[in-house]
Parts: sequence; structure tokens; C-alpha cells
Amino acid sequence: MAKNGENGSVLITGGTSGLGRACVETFLKSGWSVATFGRRMDLISELREIYFGSSLIAEVCDLRVSNHVDNVLDRVKMKFQRLDVIILNAGELGRTPLATVEQLELNDFRTVFETNFFGNISIVQKIMRLFPGGKEVFVHITSDAGSNPYPKWGPYGPSKAAMDFLFKILQSENINNQRRFLSFDPGDMNTEMHRKALPEDKPETLKDPMKSAAELESLLKEMI
Ligand SMILES: NC(=O)c1ccc[n+]([C@@H]2O[C@H](COP(=O)([O-])OP(=O)(O)OC[C@H]3O[C@@H](n4cnc5c(N)ncnc54)[C@H](OP(=O)(O)O)[C@@H]3O)[C@@H](O)[C@H]2O)c1
Repeated sequence: MAKNGENGSVLITGGTSGLGRACVETFLKSGWSVATFGRRMDLISELREIYFGSSLIAEVCDLRVSNHVDNVLDRVKMKFQRLDVIILNAGELGRTPLATVEQLELNDFRTVFETNFFGNISIVQKIMRLFPGGKEVFVHITSDAGSNPYPKWGPYGPSKAAMDFLFKILQSENINNQRRFLSFDPGDMNTEMHRKALPEDKPETLKDPMKSAAELESLLKEMI
């Protein structure tokens, strides 16, 4: 049975690329027990191979599919017994090239909210119910697009803003216990999502996701 790492245990959603992948590497190297998932089986297999023998759980799972998430959480409970930190990192950008609200279809909004809002609410509820009395720190990976009305960011920006606001409600509902809910903006990073959204941005002007992961790990180490 995997022991909790010396820094505790963390679930990172969407660990197959970008910031999520950088967090998997950073948290494992810093002595955390790490669980992660994503939809791309080849990238989950790669993680399992690279980190074979370490305290990593890596599963193929779509955040939008309830029984996929249940399977991951059951495995986490069995191996780690508890979760100290949950990083809600998995994110959906939506249709590219980015388009105005007038140009988009209603379904373009539903697709983005299905992952960034409903998927996230669902996993938070499941974790709270699976670990009653837990003292987890929940982190929502947000974006400046959730607080600035950039043109053509119609589905994505509001999905981040809605989740940030939900975290404030969750914090108000958890005032008498030790669960904490915070939003973390990692900055403009050189990742697949950013390349799809703004292909004209030069990679050297963007932040390395490893830097954002290190900043997040330092912050969380102090909190638990
Ligand atoms: N890049 C930036 O400049 C920037 C700035 C601010 C905030 N963010 C946020 O940072 C987070 C990470 O994004 P990134 O930039 O690192 O982009 P990325 O490389 O595209 O990573 C997105 C991750 O989310 C996973 N994912 C998406 N939908 C999923 C689903 N339904 N189920 C499970 N996993 C899912 C993807 O895995 P699979 O495809 O394998 O499922 C992938 O691992 C996102 O929340 C994003 O909004 C990014």
C-alpha cells in the first residue's frame, strides 16, 4: 500500500500535459503522493512508465463521466486513505480559432462548462462526501480571462469566473470546518491550450509551466 508522501497526498486533475503534467513531476519530486488522470491513454501509460515504483496513481478518466471519477477516487481512498490537496487543473478551452459570442453556437458554451464548471463541481462534491470531516485544500486553476472581459473568450472566461465564485460560496459554507478553497492563476504559460488559443504568441514570452507548478507547490507546502 502506498504511504502518504512526507508532504501529504495530492490529486491533480488533467495531469497528461501542460501545467498538470508539470505539477505531477514537481509534487512527486518534492515527496508528495500524487494521483492524477486524463483522457489520453498513451500519456497516462507514459506517466506510469516514467514514475514506476513511485507513489503515483495515474488513471485514464474523463472528468465529465461520473463512474470514471468514482473509480479514480475509490483507488485514491484505498491507497492514500485521505487527500490533503486537490488541484482542479483539467480545463477545456472550447472552439478554436476563438470566436465572438455572436459567432458561437450555444453548444460551444455547454462544452466548456461541462468540464470547467459541472465536472469540477461534481468532483468536489464526490470528494467531500467520500472523506467526511476532511481538511482538504481545494485549488481551482483559474485565469485572468475569468476577471477581464477579453473579446472572443466568451465560454472560457465565464466558466472560470463561475468556478471562482462557487469556491467563495464553498468557503462560506465550510467556515466551521477546516476545508479551504482557493483559486490560483498560473499566468500565461507555454502549453497546448495557450498555443491553440493564441498561436501568434511567441513561446519565449510565455511562462514555463514548471515555474507555475513550483510556485503552487511552495504555497501548498506552507498550507498543509
Ligand atoms: N496555458 C495558460 O496560459 C493558462 C493560463 C491560465 C490558466 N490556465 C489553466 O491551466 C489549466 C491547465 O491548462 P494547460 O494550459 O496546462 O493546458 P493543456 O496542456 O491543454 O492541459 C489541459 C489538461 O486538462 C486535461 N483535460 C481536459 N479536459 C479533460 C476532461 N474532460 N477530463 C480529464 N482531463 C481533461 C487534459 O488531459 P486529456 O486531454 O488527456 O484529457 C490536459 O491534461 C487549465 O485549467 C487552464 O484553463 C492556463
